[in-house]
Amino acid sequence: MSIDKIQDLQQRLDSIREGGGKDRIAKQHKAGKLTARERINLLMDEGSFVELDAFVKHRCTEFDMKDTDAPAEGVVTGYGTVEGRLVYAYAQDFTVVGGSLGEMHAKKICKVLDLAMKMGAPVVGINDSGGARIQEGVDALSGYGQIFYRNTIASGVIPQISVIMGPCAGGAVYSPALTDFIFMVEKTSQMFITGPQVIKAVTGEEVSSEALGGAMTHNSISGVAHFISQNEEICIAEIKRLLSYLPSNNLETAPVFEVSDDLNRIEEALNTIIPENSNKPYDMKDIIAALVDNGEYMEVQPYYAQNIITAFARLNGASIGIIANQPKVLAGCLDINASDKAGRFIRTCDAFNIPILNLIDVPGFLPGTNQEYGGIIRHGAKMLYAYSEATVPIVNVITRKAYGGAYLAMCSKDLGADMVFAWPSAEIAVMGPEGAANIIFKKDIETAENPAQARSEKIQEYKDRFATPYVAASRGFVDDVIEPATTRQRLISAFDMLSSKRETRPSKKHGNLPV
Ligand code: HXC
Repeated sequence: MSIDKIQDLQQRLDSIREGGGKDRIAKQHKAGKLTARERINLLMDEGSFVELDAFVKHRCTEFDMKDTDAPAEGVVTGYGTVEGRLVYAYAQDFTVVGGSLGEMHAKKICKVLDLAMKMGAPVVGINDSGGARIQEGVDALSGYGQIFYRNTIASGVIPQISVIMGPCAGGAVYSPALTDFIFMVEKTSQMFITGPQVIKAVTGEEVSSEALGGAMTHNSISGVAHFISQNEEICIAEIKRLLSYLPSNNLETAPVFEVSDDLNRIEEALNTIIPENSNKPYDMKDIIAALVDNGEYMEVQPYYAQNIITAFARLNGASIGIIANQPKVLAGCLDINASDKAGRFIRTCDAFNIPILNLIDVPGFLPGTNQEYGGIIRHGAKMLYAYSEATVPIVNVITRKAYGGAYLAMCSKDLGADMVFAWPSAEIAVMGPEGAANIIFKKDIETAENPAQARSEKIQEYKDRFATPYVAASRGFVDDVIEPATTRQRLISAFDMLSSKRETRPSKKHGNLPV
């Protein structure tokens, strides 16, 4: 072979790797954004990325496209390793026709999704695009359809992580929405179905694109996104961190890390963390930090529905998913958003063989017309459904309140919890003492000489009788009442005992999750 051919190859590759050219790359950097290749190189272990389909070209001849060269078709695709594990990735290149998605751009993404499915490895998709390539019309729409279909088929088989690092508008948002996790970056990423201009034209409402679909909007208000980062470097570091908690596919378990933390660590502080007054809040995150390896955990959706905490952590080096009521926010009540957040997280853990730890302090479902009209019945049902459906090991620790329907919705033994521990401060009953006394002692209170005093006596009587873990323990609904300081030790032993858990469900096409 003549040396010319090698030089020709090199020149072709150099030109492709320049993407949309120096000016557009400079514009990208000025906007606080990295290029597609820079992003992928940051994600993958050094030198491990193998690019596929760099020579793919579009076939569009409409409008200006017949003269438009689109290096790598506006999307960099391939595979590499992250901390030594195989990961597939694609990154849309905004410097090339605005990262817009046409027929061949979509085919490149589909190829990566197909390979990831065959090999059983996660996919990280970095979105930075003006959406459907307008010149390609229905071919572009078909491209999206093929991606959505694959995202759905891959759901629950391989972890799919979407990263929004620029615009993601119109129907394009549905690929991220179909995947497991969405990362967004402050100020530079936006997601919306219809943009500010369309909204203004149709409804007259004026809103900035950041307020409409910026990172904080989707992390705190809509619940569409799961993580927010200050910049792209931090975002990519967080993606790697998340991957460390996940297995490569649904037939594997997450990697187990060496533990430097004491497995028998006694946490005396937990013995006094629950306030004497059971209506006083405390921070459930202090309990999480005290229990897990090295106090490290990664919260999922930390800014959304803060009355429930969802997080990945490790016990004895192995991944667990934590679902915990947060007494500091709405007294830890379950509401529509908390149910959606937890229901989704439970299913994510179950799909990927990650055992679940429930930390329970829940006074009930949040009352109100907003909640009822918004469908708390069907939203709350998602938690019951997700727990009942889950076959991973499930361990509960009831720290304080576990009342009524919310006691069940946090996965009582009846719904499949394998081990239920309660602290001596636990109160497990149909409803709280105040409400219960008003109902069952109504006549006694009304006819008493001093109704106020009678009421408080009856509340105390109810508290002494029912607001304890011992009635539930006497029926076997609680496996053991434990000293809080020993909880880490007890959890590690429980998850170790449960590690060989096998449970099957009747075969069916699929269940009908209340949505
Ligand atoms: C073709 C596009 C494009 C698109 C951007 N470009 N979006 N080309 N199809 N959808 C091109 C621009 O012409 C420009 O080319 C280059 O990309 C950069 O775009 P700019 O507009 O200069 O960049 P900026 O000012 O940063 O604005 C970015 C933007 C804007 C906000 C994304 O480009 C925009 O509004 N684009 C259209 C968005 C849109 O409506 N898309 C369709 C959504 S509907 P040059 O050559 O000048 O550099 C949809 C349906 C999907 O996606 C349905 C799936 C079911």
